[in-house]
Amino acid sequence: MIAIGCDHGGFELKNILVKYLEAEGYEYIDVGTYDENSVDYPDIADKLCKKIQNGECEKGILVCGTGIGMNMCANKHKGIRAAQCHDTFSAKMTRQHNNANVLTMGGRVVGSELAKEIVREFLTNSFLGYRHQNRIDKMMNLENMAKIKSTDLTLLLVWDYLWTVMVFHLHLIHFLATKTNSQL
Ligand code: RB5
Repeated sequence: MIAIGCDHGGFELKNILVKYLEAEGYEYIDVGTYDENSVDYPDIADKLCKKIQNGECEKGILVCGTGIGMNMCANKHKGIRAAQCHDTFSAKMTRQHNNANVLTMGGRVVGSELAKEIVREFLTNSFLGYRHQNRIDKMMNLENMAKIKSTDLTLLLVWDYLWTVMVFHLHLIHFLATKTNSQL
């Protein structure tokens, strides 16, 4: 299952690509947007990437004006490897070497016939594995390291807060105990 999405800048090209997917017999989910009204591309990128993360879709195609905003947003999602391709060679290589699972393109940059060829390369080529798998593992490790660092910071802040609360209560108990003793 292929997920496809766009903002207003990619709306025209997305419609052409949807027809292309249909003609080629691909099953797809269109996550929007569904008209030319202005929308925020991060919302669409997020919607599409979640479909890949939860296994509903295997690959995705995102189109905005330049493809860049969609690409940046998609690559902020764990497990997403989004490739911006405006030529067929890159589309083929990013499948074979990078195991890209999202293709991003600019509807205001690339012509519709070329875009269809790019999609064809992206959807028909497979990951080669072997030495490339090692590199993908390293890439995914970078993502995991970034995650661990932010989790560590959260734990540190929680620990700091709990420690402050505990010290405050100890002082309070000490103060109350001293006060009570002096009144006896
Ligand atoms: C929308 O005008 C435009 O900024 C968007 O489609 C995209 O090109 C962003 O990267």
